[in-house]
Amino acid sequence: MEKIVVANHKMYFDSLKSVNEYIEKMKEYKDKFIVAPSNLYLKLYTDAGFNVSAQNVYAKDSGAYTGQTSAKAAKDLGAKYTLIGHSETRSYLKEDEELINGKVKNAVKNGLTVFLCIGESQKTKDEGKTKQFLKKQLDVNLKDVDDLSNIYISYEPIWSIGGVPPTNEEIDDIASYIKSLFKHDVHVLYGGGVNEKSITKLEEIPNIDGYLIGGAGTDPEKLIKILEVTQK
Ligand code: PGA
Repeated sequence: MEKIVVANHKMYFDSLKSVNEYIEKMKEYKDKFIVAPSNLYLKLYTDAGFNVSAQNVYAKDSGAYTGQTSAKAAKDLGAKYTLIGHSETRSYLKEDEELINGKVKNAVKNGLTVFLCIGESQKTKDEGKTKQFLKKQLDVNLKDVDDLSNIYISYEPIWSIGGVPPTNEEIDDIASYIKSLFKHDVHVLYGGGVNEKSITKLEEIPNIDGYLIGGAGTDPEKLIKILEVTQK
């Protein structure tokens, strides 16, 4: 089965030249993955026909919110998706669970499909509290979200980002736990250390429907190798 592949560019690209080179190299594969570029470069990708996700959006449509990105504006520029609650925005932008809930509600209201990122720290894992932590995140982040059909859950253990994934058994256990918390079928993605080397083994996990990829998704050669494995 074909997987959902999201390339999260974070803030890796910092020049128009490098973005245009990436677009040129990846345009042949544009229907096979979703790109989450820096919000500044979003329109370059939608104009080139890519499936585009914002990296984050704010909880309000418009107003006196300096430095924020409007979900409505992202939709207007052609984004169909948004990441919300990535561990880097939770940490660097001090996003709390309630703010993330507001962002999810506003994104859904504006017709964006949400990749809601959740994941535990090394400390929470070591204390054996991963499942209860993830359940709490989901409970608060999705509170009063009327329509859950456009919410995809991206499980990203914080300690594996930029590092090595957990074992397949651990990931599958968490993915099936997340699925058990919903009344309907929900897509669960995995993120953290997905690259052209780890992907073959990750593909054996039954309950994973896709991947959120950071570093490797910025390198066309690596991303193409991943797509060759995941888009059969
Ligand atoms: P990584 O990042 O693939 O570089 O580990 C994943 C993510 O943060 O989305």
